[in-house]
Amino acid sequence: MTTRALPGRARPRSLRARLLWVFLVPLALVLVVVGVAATAAVRGELLGQVDDRLAAAVTRSAHADGGPSAPGYGDPGGGPDFLLVPGQGDGTLGARVVDGAVTEAAVIGREGDGEALTAAEAAALAGVPADGAARTVGLGPLGDYRVVASPAGDGEVLVTGLPLASAEAALVRLVAVEVVAGLLGLLAAGVAGALVVGRTLRPLHRVAATAGRVAALPLSSGEVRLPDRVPAADTDPRTEVGRVGAALNRLLDSVESGIAARQASETRLRRFVADAGHELRTPVTSIRGYTELVRRRGGLPEDADASLRRVEAEAVRMSGLVDDLLLLARLDAGRELTVGTVDLTGLVVDAVSDAHAAGPGHRWRVDLPGAAVLVPGDAARLHQVLANLLANVRTHTPAGTTATTRLRAEDGTAVLEVADDGPGVPADLRAGVFERFARGDSARSRASGSTGLGLAIVAAVVAGHGGTVGVAGRPGRTVFTVRLPGATVTEFEDDDALEGAGGVRA
Ligand SMILES: Nc1ncnc2c1ncn2[C@@H]1O[C@H](COP(=O)(O)OP(=O)(O)OP(=O)(O)O)[C@@H](O)[C@H]1O
Ligand SMILES: [Mg+2]
Repeated sequence: MTTRALPGRARPRSLRARLLWVFLVPLALVLVVVGVAATAAVRGELLGQVDDRLAAAVTRSAHADGGPSAPGYGDPGGGPDFLLVPGQGDGTLGARVVDGAVTEAAVIGREGDGEALTAAEAAALAGVPADGAARTVGLGPLGDYRVVASPAGDGEVLVTGLPLASAEAALVRLVAVEVVAGLLGLLAAGVAGALVVGRTLRPLHRVAATAGRVAALPLSSGEVRLPDRVPAADTDPRTEVGRVGAALNRLLDSVESGIAARQASETRLRRFVADAGHELRTPVTSIRGYTELVRRRGGLPEDADASLRRVEAEAVRMSGLVDDLLLLARLDAGRELTVGTVDLTGLVVDAVSDAHAAGPGHRWRVDLPGAAVLVPGDAARLHQVLANLLANVRTHTPAGTTATTRLRAEDGTAVLEVADDGPGVPADLRAGVFERFARGDSARSRASGSTGLGLAIVAAVVAGHGGTVGVAGRPGRTVFTVRLPGATVTEFEDDDALEGAGGVRA
């Protein structure tokens, strides 16, 4: 089922509306067809009865025509003599037409006497063809009449008629009853249908609500519990909705156990890395210590001394690597950050001064606000963030590259940027540059003993502070941007701090 939002089309969308639609429209059509057919049949039957009575009246008139009126019956002056004969009922109409003109015409009134027709009414009778067939004629205020005109010799035509009023009234009553009953039936069917469909579909809403609640949970990382299940009442396999509910519960069971397994293996791995890091620390420190000791003591042949220096340098690198791994494992576990108030302005000044000392071949610039930008956080780790970004410029861009470190506060967010005009992050690395062990394979990186953990640590520390980090740029301009929440700005009490920053602005 697709739901499209087409403006201006009023077709029912929900299953409930559609079910009601396909149920009520045919029902209404059936009711209309049955009503029309029944009305037509009843109308035919009523006309037939009137025609039968008319035929009898015509027979009586034919016998009476020309002869004397029955003794003591009525006054022949009140209408044609053939009209006022015994047996003719109230409302019976009689007219004599001679040469196309009505000579006398009357209707039997309530008292049994003839009441003359008006000229207009009489004129309507003059045109009735004299073929003995029954026809319906409208006689104005008298209503519709069923009339028969039959020739009576000498160019005379006798017209006899019976009123249709009572038959028509019966038909109107029938149609009214049909319409009212049909509408009430449709209404009852609609209400009952809506109730039944609503009841049937209600479990589906509950299943959808369960799915919605689960979908809103963050499933990608961390301890995830999925306590939500479709209630047992909505998992009856005998109903369609129940099967959906049961399937959703099975899906949630397997997702939950999958997530639990993922979480367990993640925890195991993290503990393994932390333990391994811990275990490696001591031997690496020993190697460093002993090589330094032997080298200091001196008296070694020159090549042995050079080898020992290499061993020492590698041991230093290894202990840095172990520290990085340990730090990442602890950050993953959500530990390791100590929270205080960090003066980012001072931190930038320090870190850029360090970078200046370590990389005199690069140009180091700062762009600082004239105030201290403070964020809540771990000073040592935030220093490491900036140190890692600056170290990357030092190790991954050629000498002579300019690195600009900018700091500003924007609506309570501290924005720290490290931009350089070096060759930029290799394109194939761009997307995953913050992943662990992601590193460019340049000779430079290899020579500098790059491990690819620096930016992973940056990302983990920044995430631990509730911030974000991103990279943008093209060759000639690479910008790493760190955003940290909760920034406040405090004006300097004196300008000493900026004087310090000015020192590295060269
Ligand atoms: N400013 C930059 N200019 C060009 N490339 C960069 C820059 N910063 C990072 N990179 C690329 O991103 C890769 C990953 O950087 P990251 O800091 O994570 O690791 P690394 O510097 O290689 O090793 P580590 O920092 O662990 O010693 C680098 O190897 C480098 O190719
Ligand atoms: Mg690095």
